Amino acid sequence: MTDKSQAYLDDRAHVFHSWSAQKALDPMVVVGAEGSRFWTDDGRRFLDFSSQMVNVNIGHQHPKVVAAIKEQADVLCTIAPGHANDKRGELARMLAGIAPGDLDMVFFTNGGAEATENAARMARVHTQRQKVLTAYRSYHGGTTGAITMTGEPRRWGSEPGVPGVVHFWGPYLYRSAFHAKTEAEECERALRHLEDTVVVEGPGTIAAILLESVVGTNGILVPPDGYLAGVREICDRYGIVMIADEVMSGFGRCGAWFAIDRWDVAPDLICFAKGVNSGYVPLGGVIISQRIADTFATVPYPGGLTYSGHPLACAASVASMKAFEEEGINEHGLMLECDVIGPALHDLAERHPSVGEVRGLGVFWALELVKDRRTREPLVPFNASGPDAAPMKELMGACASRGLWPFTHFNRLHVVPPVTITADDAREGIAILDEALKVADAHCTG
Ligand SMILES: Cc1ncc(COP(=O)(O)O)c(C=O)c1O
Repeated sequence: MTDKSQAYLDDRAHVFHSWSAQKALDPMVVVGAEGSRFWTDDGRRFLDFSSQMVNVNIGHQHPKVVAAIKEQADVLCTIAPGHANDKRGELARMLAGIAPGDLDMVFFTNGGAEATENAARMARVHTQRQKVLTAYRSYHGGTTGAITMTGEPRRWGSEPGVPGVVHFWGPYLYRSAFHAKTEAEECERALRHLEDTVVVEGPGTIAAILLESVVGTNGILVPPDGYLAGVREICDRYGIVMIADEVMSGFGRCGAWFAIDRWDVAPDLICFAKGVNSGYVPLGGVIISQRIADTFATVPYPGGLTYSGHPLACAASVASMKAFEEEGINEHGLMLECDVIGPALHDLAERHPSVGEVRGLGVFWALELVKDRRTREPLVPFNASGPDAAPMKELMGACASRGLWPFTHFNRLHVVPPVTITADDAREGIAILDEALKVADAHCTG
């Protein structure tokens, strides 16, 4: 198209975008999507290896979810959070049913940041302590409390933030903060570091440890076996609330309802959003253990939202969770891990010197790109922007020009398509990556 569409012109004139210098933006105009593909007003089609913001787990325009939203719209579009409502109650019951341990009550929010904010608040009131410990390699949302709890550089622009947040190093063997050589060493040392942090901060001052069960945007860092169980033990030893942030890792992304299920650990609170209904209507929330819910049995909970448990969002979630059951979507994610994406990415790594490490599980994978496999120098520096980030931009361009839309962050390319992607589509996307990675290989110096 030579002339820009009205949608593009309106966007550039009036839409203020997240995390961006506004003048630098040149967005595509997306006009439709189905399954694992989306397309633009100028006729370009993309295989969606990003699931947008790693949220469209069920794929675009799933007919059962679309129908449920339409049906609910005819019945009741909205109702105040203080009333009981059939879809809200049904969804809460379903979430309690899939949650581990005695997590049995649900507080609904509009998204992930409000979920982590409210989980931290529940922990503070429950323990009567103030501090929250979170990992440096983490993202927990963009509102004031959530961005303070975030460890990565998106926090910097909002500092000093709220008091009482302390960051620690989680396990990441490829770039170990603990000079570990094996997963077992990394696990043991990361746990010792966390416990040391608890001790020097003062156990009696710490309300919660909040962590992503599998770190998402900041690297798809799969914890070594024993790490999450070890965090659980530390929390129990010091009376600290364990909060699992499953906003990105939940709902099939890791081949299970929740990533933490892969290690059979029960936290005290689970934050969810994104994949609960794939963002068809915004929804998030906190699943709460009975013990913490009991704190608020007679004392009012100090928080609330006009749209808490929005009927359209709840109806979409109920339909989505039922479709997950009926269509075996979690099991499909596991199959993709074992038979398709895992093997294909490891195979691809053998051919490309720029791939330093492949890691992931389910439909949640990262290629960590390097200039030199021996020194592990990242393909672009930490938090690179402008010309420093050019190699990653080129790689993104090489994918997009071949009809593939991946998710990139720093020196990593994430393979995070809808959990419903077919094996053939996953293979097609990885074949495109195989071609595109030559662009990254050209930057290798090792
Ligand atoms: C792990 C995690 N927590 C919280 C959030 C914040 O969610 P939202 O953008 O819905 O506020 C995100 C968003 O990417 C996330 O990945």
